[in-house]
Amino acid sequence: MAKLLYIETVGCQMNVLDSELVTADLLRAGYQTVDSPRRADVILLNTCSVRQHAEDKIYSALGRMKHLKEHRPHAIIGVLGCMAQKDQTLIFTRAPQVDLVVGPGQLGRLPALLKRVAEGKGQQMEVSLDRSAATHRLVRQSFAKYDPSRAGRPDSGSPQAMVRIMFGCNNFCTYCIVPSVRGPEQSRTVEEIEAEARQLVDAGCLEITLLGQAVNSYQDRSSGQTVRLADLLYRLHEIEGLARLKFVTNYPRYMTPDLLQAVHELPKVSPYLHVPAQSGSNRILRRMKRRYTAEAYRQMLDRARATIPGVAITSDFIVGFCSETEEDFQQTVDLVRRGRFKNSFIFKYSVRPGTKAAELYADDVPYKVKQRRNNELLAVQNDISEEENRPFVGRTVDILVEGPSKAGGKQAEDEPVIQLVGRTTCDRIVVFEGHRRLIGRIMPVEIYQASAFTLFGKQI
Ligand code: 5AD
Ligand code: SF4
Repeated sequence: MAKLLYIETVGCQMNVLDSELVTADLLRAGYQTVDSPRRADVILLNTCSVRQHAEDKIYSALGRMKHLKEHRPHAIIGVLGCMAQKDQTLIFTRAPQVDLVVGPGQLGRLPALLKRVAEGKGQQMEVSLDRSAATHRLVRQSFAKYDPSRAGRPDSGSPQAMVRIMFGCNNFCTYCIVPSVRGPEQSRTVEEIEAEARQLVDAGCLEITLLGQAVNSYQDRSSGQTVRLADLLYRLHEIEGLARLKFVTNYPRYMTPDLLQAVHELPKVSPYLHVPAQSGSNRILRRMKRRYTAEAYRQMLDRARATIPGVAITSDFIVGFCSETEEDFQQTVDLVRRGRFKNSFIFKYSVRPGTKAAELYADDVPYKVKQRRNNELLAVQNDISEEENRPFVGRTVDILVEGPSKAGGKQAEDEPVIQLVGRTTCDRIVVFEGHRRLIGRIMPVEIYQASAFTLFGKQI
């Protein structure tokens, strides 16, 4: 009988992709997926470490699983991903019911490790080397590439797919845990990426999102020449049947003219750029070690908008970083006001042990102040999002239909016409009423109403 697998994912798109690859691997090994941990033989949590809140949620989920294991003693519980790499054996100490800990650079070992646990060989752990534990080469090798095992389209049959073009990060922003849990930057070769993209398009994918922690610092030097993200976009643009190409997340300093030009020139590349600014205060940016000023960031926005008319730009901000004053914060508010972002993700600073900021600076902004700044910034951004969405009313836009809309509530399975949700090339969410069979297609929709987060349209 097939073993039943339940997998839960928190964190970024990188993690969503990893879970998809893990699931595909285990399906090949004879597993079947189930949608409840209570019925599963193997329960996997793919975890995130970017903020304390994410980790707290995972530890409390593991607490609940302790009871589950009392009823299903044979069930195997595994912790994967960033928190596995960060906490390592601490996970077994805090949650002894866990059987398996696997870091993001060791996911390829998962089927073999599961087998060892099932054979009664006890708790298993496989993580990559800490960045300071060995030579750069050995550390890099310990973050093994996982993507080459990929075969075909995502299990969900979705028309959208993600393709990782690089692993890890070398930026070491002082607040960020990612470089230590995802390892040193490593770009995949163009050939490997292109082969994977072709395979996905052949299997029916229309849209590909290229993933990297600082995706625009991509460089493949394996052929003797340096291939950058702009060159890669030209290469992938040639793939017949591919309709849309996106890439996230960008680092502001590497938003080069050739990349902007490529986005402008290539019709399949979405006019959408996610370029986190993090703060509008130069003093804070220096403390974050972001290596640009608010003025340089704004010039980058101007260049992007001059090169790519109509481009939608989104950003991330951290409020309440160590020593952030009201004046620093007002400079961030100013950047959001002038930046005219389509939307921004706003986070309250969360100390990450092991980072430079945790070592050097006091987390001295009270939680209440962080909360208030978060709300204030969000309110400013939401007004702008609405203003930026309003001109779409009356326009007809092409959308890729993603599926039933959550806004439509629980929709009857047998109802053919339902509330659907799709996305424009500039990454705006569109809700409209249509037949289920439109899911997975690109089609024109006329917008009749706009809010800060959603455009409402009708089929034409
Ligand atoms: N605290 C709060 N937010 C953080 N981010 C990264 N590290 C932290 C942290 N320690 C945010 C950044 C990043 C996004 C993915 O998460 O804004 O762009
Ligand atoms: Fe993604 Fe970073 Fe969270 Fe890891 S720590 S899941 S890379 S956001």
